[in-house]
Amino acid sequence: MCVNSTAPAAVIVLAAGAGTRMRSKLPKVLHEIGGRSLLMHAITAARGVEPAQLVAVVRHEREQVVAHLAEHAPEVLVADQDDIPGTGRAVQCGLEQVGAEAGTVLVTYGDVPLLDAPTLQSLVAQHEAAGSAVTVLTALLEDASGYGRIVRSEDGGEVLGIVEHKDASAAQREIREVNSGIYAFDVAVLRSALSRITTDNAQGEMYLTDVLALAREDGGSVRAVVTDDAILVEGANDRVQLAQLGAEMNRRILERHMRAGVSIVDPSTTWIDAEVSIGQDTTVLPGVQLLGATDIGADVVIGPDSTLRHTVVADGAEVVRTHALHAEIGEQASVGPFTYLRPGTVLGAKGKIGGFVETKNAQIGEGSKVPHLSYVGDAEIGEHTNIGAATIVANYDGVNKHRTRVGSHVRVGSDSVLVAPVSIGDGAATGAGAVVREDVPAGALAVNAVSQRIVEGWTERRRPGTPAAAAAAAAQKQAEGADAPAQESKEREN
Ligand code: UD1
Ligand code: CA
Repeated sequence: MCVNSTAPAAVIVLAAGAGTRMRSKLPKVLHEIGGRSLLMHAITAARGVEPAQLVAVVRHEREQVVAHLAEHAPEVLVADQDDIPGTGRAVQCGLEQVGAEAGTVLVTYGDVPLLDAPTLQSLVAQHEAAGSAVTVLTALLEDASGYGRIVRSEDGGEVLGIVEHKDASAAQREIREVNSGIYAFDVAVLRSALSRITTDNAQGEMYLTDVLALAREDGGSVRAVVTDDAILVEGANDRVQLAQLGAEMNRRILERHMRAGVSIVDPSTTWIDAEVSIGQDTTVLPGVQLLGATDIGADVVIGPDSTLRHTVVADGAEVVRTHALHAEIGEQASVGPFTYLRPGTVLGAKGKIGGFVETKNAQIGEGSKVPHLSYVGDAEIGEHTNIGAATIVANYDGVNKHRTRVGSHVRVGSDSVLVAPVSIGDGAATGAGAVVREDVPAGALAVNAVSQRIVEGWTERRRPGTPAAAAAAAAQKQAEGADAPAQESKEREN
C-alpha cells in the first residue's frame, strides 16, 4: 500500500480503563511483553506516524501510568478522563489537549501491543486518499462475541455504523466483522459528533463508536479498512492473553532476526525482546533470553542456556551458559560456562571470564583472563593479566566497598585474596594462596603463604585403622619394594 500521507495532527492513546481481569496491583497497560510495557508498544507504534501531538488518556492508577510515561515517553501529553465513562468520553478528554482545528486524528488503545506503525501509516494514507470523515480498522473474527460489530448497507458496500455487542440484536450478533477500536478521524467531524453523543445505551457509557453513524448523518464518508492480520488489533485483557500476545510477538521478532541473517537454532526456547539488535552470522543456541537494551555484534555465539539483559556483546565473542546484566563483552572475548556478570562488568577484546566466576563493577582489560572459580568486584585489571584460579577480590569490609587495581601483565597466583583497597603494579606476581593486603610494586613478587612443613608418618600415628592409614602404609610398602631400581626417580623427587 502506498504511504505518502501527511503526518497526522495527533494520535490519542486510550489508557484510562481499569483492566480488572489482570488481577494485578500493576495497571494493565504497564504489564510487559517483549521487554516493553503494553503502553510503550502502543506509543512506539504511534511515534511511527510522526504525529504533531501524542496524547495518552489516563484515569485508573493514574499516578503510576503518568510516572511511566514521564520516564519512557516524556513527549506524550497526558489527558485526564473524568468520571463519565466510555471510549467516547475518553477521546473527548484527549481532544482537549489537541490544538488542531483540521487534519487527521488517530485513536488507538494502550493495551493493544502488536499494532505497528506500518498498519497505522496505511490507515492514515487510505483515510486521507479517500477524503473520509472516519476510517475504522476492522477484522474478521471466527468468534466475534464481546466486540462491536460493523453494520454495513445491504450490499455490504457502505459502513452504516457500529453496534456494541451488548446493544446488538440477535441478527447483528451474527456479524463477523468487528471494530478493532483503532480509527482515523477528521478532527472537526470528531469534535462535532462527540459533543452530541449520549450515555443512552446498554452500558450507560459514552460510546466512541456512535461517532460513525453521526458522521454519516452529517454527510461525511465513513469507511472500514479490514486487516488480514487480526492479532495486530488484539488487546490483552488478562494474563492468558498477555502470554499469547507475548509468544506471538516473540515469534515475529525471531523471524525478523532470522531473515536478517541470525541463526536461531531453537526458536521454541529462545526469547528476544523488541529492542535487541543482533549482527549477521551470529548463532543463538537453545535456551537463550536476550532482554532489554541488549546489543549483540556479528559472528557471536550465544548459549546454550544464557540470559543477557542490557548487555553489549562485540563481534566474534562467545558466551556460554551465562547470566549477564548491564555488562559489556569485548570483541572475540570468551565468557562461561556457568558465569555471572553483574552490572559494570566490562571485558576487553580477547579477554576471558571463565567457569564459576562472578564479576561486578569490574573492568578487565584486553587479553586479560579470569578463567576459573573467582569473584572480582569493584576492580580494574589491566591488559594481558592472568588471575589465578579461585582468586577472590575482597571488596567489602563489612561497612564500605573499596577498589582494587591490578596492572598489566600481572600473574595473580591461584587462591589469592586481594583485600581492597589494594593495588598490584604492572608485571608483578603473587604466590599461590597469598593474602594481598598491601600494595605490590611493579615487577615485584608478593608471597605470604606459610612455608610447608612435613610431618612424616602423621596419618598412621594419628589416624590408625582408617582407610587413609591403610593407603599410606600400602604406598610406603610399595615405595620400599621399588627402592633399588627407583633410585633415580627418588633423587629427582628430592
Ligand atoms: C471497545 C469498542 C468496541 C470494540 C472494542 C475492541 C466502544 C464503545 N466499544 O469495546 O466496539 O470492538 O473496543 O477492543 O468503544 N477506555 C478508556 N476510558 C474508558 C473506557 C475505555 O480509556 O472510559 C480505554 C481502555 O483503557 C481500553 C480501550 O479504551 O484501552 C477499550 O476499552 P474496553 O473497555 O476494552 O473496550 P470496549 O468498550 O469493551
Ligand atoms: Ca477490550
